[in-house]
Amino acid sequence: MNEATHLLATDLDGTLVGDRKGLDSLLGFYDIQQYDVSLIYITGRHYQSAMSLIEQENLPIPEVLITDVGTEIHLGPALEKDRDWENRMLRHWKPDAIDELAASIQGLKKQDLPVTNRCSFYADDSETVLAFEQRLVSAGIPHKLIFSGGRDLDILPADSGKGAALEYILDKFNAYEAKMLIAGDSGNDKEMLTLGFPSVIVGNAQPELLESPESPMIFRASKVCAGGIQQAWNHFHSE
Ligand code: GLC
Ligand code: MG
Repeated sequence: MNEATHLLATDLDGTLVGDRKGLDSLLGFYDIQQYDVSLIYITGRHYQSAMSLIEQENLPIPEVLITDVGTEIHLGPALEKDRDWENRMLRHWKPDAIDELAASIQGLKKQDLPVTNRCSFYADDSETVLAFEQRLVSAGIPHKLIFSGGRDLDILPADSGKGAALEYILDKFNAYEAKMLIAGDSGNDKEMLTLGFPSVIVGNAQPELLESPESPMIFRASKVCAGGIQQAWNHFHSE
């Protein structure tokens, strides 16, 4: 990562993963370039679940693995947990208070997860999400709320999220000079796709992304998943 010249920061489900042919084509395309592409995976999955997917899909091991919607970071050859990030996340984090509030709101079902660094739910509809948000704000509980795919609701530590975690890594490795592409397909990707770096919304994206404002830094691919990433790579970085 330290001397990365080219960088792909991508979501997994529905973005890098989801179309085998497109994925094989993208990886083959990277193989024949003169340069190496450093990989950062940024997923909503928890660590074990992300590792299972990497194995199952035979994905290249990334240099950085950001899991749990940008609340946990693993890096280095052994993909060790970044403790500085973790400490920063946990400083004002009150998962018990959030769960207690959520229990009083109809239409929210807690996701069964092995982590406490985020509180994730299935929400019946956006009115439920709004009601919950209002309660969190009036209770003064610091948080970041992310609603994806019309169903997944993540309550995260205020300073976390996919965009914040990616910026932390770019800072840590001073990687802002690298030719970069950020790729995603749903609501939890919005924050990182709007950081102002070359980004792609893949062709199969969820409505909440398709409706987001146009920007010259956000390429809207016609192809789905990894095929869309390759289209965008050619758009921004053909050399
Ligand atoms: C992934 C995670 C889920 C999360 C969702 C949206 O599907 O498994 O826990 O709520 O992403 O971020
Ligand atoms: Mg996705």
